[in-house]
This record gives sequence, structure tokens and C-alpha cells, in this order.
Amino acid sequence: MRRTYSAIAWIIAGGVVVQAASIAFGLGGMSHFIQEGGVVDKALIESRQATFTGVLGFPIHGMVGGMVIPLAALALLIVAFFVKVRGARPWAAIVLALVALQITLGYSIADMPYLGLIHGANALALLLAAVYAALRIRRRKTIVARELSSDVIAT
Ligand code: HEM
Repeated sequence: MRRTYSAIAWIIAGGVVVQAASIAFGLGGMSHFIQEGGVVDKALIESRQATFTGVLGFPIHGMVGGMVIPLAALALLIVAFFVKVRGARPWAAIVLALVALQITLGYSIADMPYLGLIHGANALALLLAAVYAALRIRRRKTIVARELSSDVIAT
């Protein structure tokens, strides 16, 4: 179960990297398209007919952020209940809370662009929390193993 917990936490951390890459790909492609004389307007976005390089970055960001990462965060919390390590549940809950905030901000950016400042910063907080959750479970295992071996030596 510890391995599963750690693996899910790493998946979330990897997901954040995919999110940064996909949105940079999308916005970079859009910027290039505009510089070449292309026009991006409400009609083009709603038609879903845009074909510029990088346009795939937007649906990837929406799917990984709106589905993959939240499902993984939920799974992390469920698995945390079967992991007998102190702090596993609170850290899974922190990760899930950061994901919930991130999604809320993501869907509100278009209405309130200033929220993008928090969306970007919160992504880094989520990355750190997921990496910490993944590492502390392994570190805890090493400590327990060390304690056991020193007990064996002492007896
Ligand atoms: C790593 C840095 C990140 C940056 C720079 C970033 C940036 C953005 C931007 C600019 C948008 C608006 C896109 C648009 O209106 O088309 C957006 C939307 C969104 N983001 Fe992120 N994001 C990041 C990470 C994340 C993460 C980690 C998650 C999920 C946990 C996430 C979930 C979302 C969602 C659900 C949307 C709404 C997508 C939609 O409307 O279809 N983002 N993000």
C-alpha cells in the first residue's frame, strides 16, 4: 500500500509537469499563430476548429487538470486510509485540497484573469506537496527498517 501511495503521489507530481508543459505549448503556439497574422477570437475558440501548432495543449491541460489529477488525488486519499503511516492521511488531504483549489481557479481564469497569479503559484505548491507525500512515505519505511535492525543488533 505504501508503494501504491507513493506511486499515486508521483503521478500527481508528474501531472503538474504535464500541465505546465501543455499550457506553455498551447499559449506558445497561439502566440506564434497571432504573430503570423492569425486571429484568435470567441468564434474560433467555440468552433474548436483552430489548427495552429500547440492547440492540442489546451485540451490536454483541461483533461489532465479536470480529470486525471483530481481522480489521482481522490485515489491518494482513499489509499491513505489503508497505509499505516502517521501523516499519510493529512498529506493526502492537503494534496486533494490544493487540487480542488487549482481546478476552481483554472475554470475561473477566463472570468477573472488575476486568478492566474494564484493558479500558477498554487501549481508549484501542489508539486511540492505531492513530491513530499511521495518521499516521506519512503523515508518513513527506511526509518522503521533502521529501527528494526538496531533492535536486532541490541538483542
Ligand atoms: C503548472 C502550472 C500551470 C499553469 C501555468 C496553468 C495555467 C493555466 C491557464 C493559463 C489556464 C487557462 C487556459 C484557458 O483558458 O484556455 C488554465 C486552465 C486550467 N487549469 Fe491550469 N495551469 C497550471 C497547472 C494546473 C494544474 C496542476 C491543474 C490541475 C490540478 C490545472 C487545472 C486547470 C483547469 C481544470 C483549467 C480549466 C481548463 C478549461 O477551461 O478547459 N492547471 N491553467
